[in-house]
Formats: sequence, structure tokens, C-alpha cells
Amino acid sequence: MTGVSTLEEALAAWDGEQVILRRDAEADAWIIVALHSSALGPACGGTRMRGYAGLREAVVDALALAGGMTLKFAAAGFPAGGGKAVIWPSRPLAQAERDGLLRRYGAVVASLAGAFRTGPDVGTTPRDMDVIAEAGAPYVYCRTCSTAGPEGSAPHTAIGVLAAIELLCARLSVPLDAAHVVVQGVGSVGARLVRRLLAAGARVTIADVDARATAALAGLPRVDVVSPARALELPCDVLSPCALGGALSERSVPRLRCRAIAGAANNMLATPEDDERLRARGVLYAPDFLVNVGGALAITGIESRGWSREQATARVRAAVRDNLAEVLASAARTGRGTDACARELARARLGAGASTPCP
Ligand code: NAI
Ligand code: PHE
Repeated sequence: MTGVSTLEEALAAWDGEQVILRRDAEADAWIIVALHSSALGPACGGTRMRGYAGLREAVVDALALAGGMTLKFAAAGFPAGGGKAVIWPSRPLAQAERDGLLRRYGAVVASLAGAFRTGPDVGTTPRDMDVIAEAGAPYVYCRTCSTAGPEGSAPHTAIGVLAAIELLCARLSVPLDAAHVVVQGVGSVGARLVRRLLAAGARVTIADVDARATAALAGLPRVDVVSPARALELPCDVLSPCALGGALSERSVPRLRCRAIAGAANNMLATPEDDERLRARGVLYAPDFLVNVGGALAITGIESRGWSREQATARVRAAVRDNLAEVLASAARTGRGTDACARELARARLGAGASTPCP
């Protein structure tokens, strides 16, 4: 998907199954649902709602995020396919207008008759899932009344990211209570990750473009705040990108001063070449779709397979730890980047299809 310049080129280059594009004239918004793969089960992925520079950017984001969901579920051996929805309102919406848009989006989800199941993502909350479910049930996960509760998917995503950071620190021979972790983006996942890192004794530096987000954590012991511009360039043991995608790029990778990277952000490599750039710099990169699977895995496991919260937590920690250990070993053995090795692992499980073991 890199190097595409038009909407047509982006769609033509995509290897997914179907894209639904709906214009919502009432709210002056676009609704995009990208169904990437149904090889392992119905497509599942969050609903993202935010501003974009244009329709091309919104569609490209949906396509890339949907592909990431396929890899995420396949790597975890979970019987779900990959999809994602993006809602792009081209102007700020009042609450009632926003709810109306979400209800109409819910009708789009219902019209797919189970081919797409959704949950929250950037810009949407469990309360929004309640509104979408008015028309979109039973294909809407993570409602406020669900077992996951009003906190949504972020707690389990943070648990998975912490499991990855623990493993990386062990590889660096740095005990977690002596580690320095920089967290870029302290929203739903990042803030929870910071609290877990502090509980484990780590020193944490945080950065966010929203001063309210950093203010909520700034007074805590062992927390420093820096400007977003400095976050990626600070010397640290582990850098944890928990904001939006594309943080690791041709421009930022040469300036990194971390020893390892593990975060929640989806699609954090700006281009596939950044995998090799990180390898060449000796930075241990934990591939995003292995690390940030926690929320999607826990929520779908709890709501579609009856896992308890405790079982979900154990599954998330095991999936992140086992996959990351396998990928680090394969990268060391073959001399390739970890992202390439992780994609190979996920595609092999995708190819194994229905025979993939998942109790
Ligand atoms: P969020 O919207 O609650 O938090 C993101 C934070 O990043 C916000 O506080 C925002 O102000 C900040 N931010 C944006 N641009 C920034 C920049 N350039 N520098 C520093 N801070 C910046 O989103 P959430 O739910 O915490 O998700 C974070 C990332 O993790 C997203 O990429 C999301 O797709 C991904 N993710 C989230 C999951 C979840 O369960 N919530 C699951 C898997 C992935
Ligand atoms: N936002 C989640 C992710 O990117 C998607 C998700 C959450 C899917 C909850 C289902 C349920 O992984």
C-alpha cells in the first residue's frame, strides 16, 4: 500500500475481499468498511472515527488497518478474519448528529449479516458501541453492558503490550524495575500501560499532543513528561508507540536512541523498508500486530467463545509472549527483520486455515 497516489491505485493494490463505501449526506460523512479476509472466520475489527485530509487517506487507512486485523487474528490462531471500519465526518458533529450517524452506520453493519463484526478503535468508545448496536446487534462487541465492561478493549491491549516489553527487557538483560520506557501517546491504551509499568517498578517518560492526557499522569512518581517532538529521540531501553500509525519512518528511524520497540499503535512502520532500517540499526522491534492483539483477542474471546476475563488475560499474555519469542528466534536465525518474520508466521497460519488449532 505504500507509494500509491490515487484512490484507484490504492484499491487496485489491495489484496482484500471487499470494500463498502457509503456516503452519509445527513452528517456530511463517509463510512468505509474494508473486509480483508474471511479465510479464518467472519471479518472482525474496530470502528475508527476521526478526521482525514481526504477520502483517499480515509480509505487507505481502512485498507491497511483491515489487513493488519487479518494478520493479528491469524498469528494468534483465533478463528476470525480481518476487517476494519473508518468513519470520516468532514466537520465537527454535535452529540445527537454523531449518534444519528453511528445508528446509520449500525444499519450498514447489520446489512452485512455477520460478514463484519466490530468493536471500538481510535475515536470510538463502548458507549458508541451501544448506539451502533441499536441497529447493528448482534454484530457489535464491547458494549457497556458486556462482560468486558465500560472500559472496553484497552485494558487487555495494555496487558499484551506489557507482556512484550517484559520479554524485550529480558532479552536486553534489563530487569523491568530498572528499565526506562518512553510511551508516545497516553490515551486509552498508553495511560493504562504507564500505570502497569509503574506498578512493575519501571521509569517512564510520556508524551502526548493532548496536554490533558499527560496531565492525568504527570504527578506520579517515576514519570517524566517530554514534548511529542522529543519522544522518539530519547535514550531509553524500550520505546512504546501508542499513538497513531507511521511513527517509524525513513525520517525517524535514524534518530531513534532506544534499544527495543513494543507498542499498541497499529501500522507503526511507515513503509515495509522500515523493518530493515530497524534491523540495520540493531533495534529490537516487536511487530505491532503481534503485540497489540490483546483487546481484539480478549473481547472476541469473551463475547463469542465464552472465555472468562481471567482466561482472556492468560490467552493474551501467552499469544504475545509465544509469538514474539518465535519471531525473535526466526529473525536471529535468518538475519531478516522481525516484521518480515512475523508476517511469514501469520501467513503460514492463515494458509493452514480451518486446521489452525484454537480450543
Ligand atoms: P486513543 O485515541 O485513546 O489514544 C491515542 C493518544 O495518542 C491520544 O491521547 C492522542 O492525543 C495521542 N497522540 C496522537 N498523535 C500523537 C503524537 N504524534 N504524539 C504523541 N501523542 C499523540 O487511542 P488508543 O485506543 O489508546 O489506541 C492507541 C493506538 O493503539 C492506536 O493506533 C490504535 O489503533 C491502537 N490499538 C488500540 C487498541 C485498543 O484496544 N484501544 C487495540 C489495538 C491497537
Ligand atoms: N481496536 C481493536 C484493534 O485494533 C479492534 C477490536 C477491538 C476488535 C475490540 C474487536 C473488539 O485491534
